[in-house]
Amino acid sequence: MDEKKRVGEKAADFVEDGMVVGLGTGSTVYYTIMKLGQRVKEGLNIQGIPTSVQTEELAKKAGIPLANFKDIEQIDVAIDGADEVDTNLDLIKGGGGALLREKIIAKAAKKFIVVATPFKMVEKLGAFRLPVEVVPFGAELTEKHIRELGNDPILRLFEGKPYKTDNGNYIFDCDISHTLHTKELEEKLNMFPGVVENGLFINMSDIVISLDQEKNVVLID
Ligand code: A5P
Repeated sequence: MDEKKRVGEKAADFVEDGMVVGLGTGSTVYYTIMKLGQRVKEGLNIQGIPTSVQTEELAKKAGIPLANFKDIEQIDVAIDGADEVDTNLDLIKGGGGALLREKIIAKAAKKFIVVATPFKMVEKLGAFRLPVEVVPFGAELTEKHIRELGNDPILRLFEGKPYKTDNGNYIFDCDISHTLHTKELEEKLNMFPGVVENGLFINMSDIVISLDQEKNVVLID
């Protein structure tokens, strides 16, 4: 928990007065949001764009003013956690189900900062199953397509029923452990009409904040 707090809080240093900030989802970026809330109370003037309903509620509680997409010109920085980070700083995200909004916001941001404890750092992506968000209509067909790619999709469940994202969609958690070309897979998956988005974030991270072996906070770029 202390590791998450240290990397999460460090990310708040990248936020300056007047910025529009994409607020990620999860237990690491939680600490960034709390720290930003504290700085807002001390006079920092920012607007947040949350990546999930959960983060929206958290940001409101923390006192961070939220922006509407129609009122902003740009997102200056987005800060988010990850499920896996490889040596190229490519990511698997979506363990918490928020991958679509996270990707929309990370893609739009001028700078994308990832907060990840050492446990998340891997040589190669794929020990964590890749979340793929699909529309419920024809989900069986989409599942078949994903299976044909060789990615063994498993429908994510919540209390015995299909888990639903904030966008009303399903998630298939997929085995990509054998995949060598993640960029290709990211594109292939998104070509199926029923797939909305997948949790591969390739060539998107600008900085990863983590800890080294001595547990010092490190910035990797
Ligand atoms: C949410 O859908 C995910 O992409 C999270 O960003 C990711 O799972 C990291 O979450 P934790 O910081 O809680 O591990």
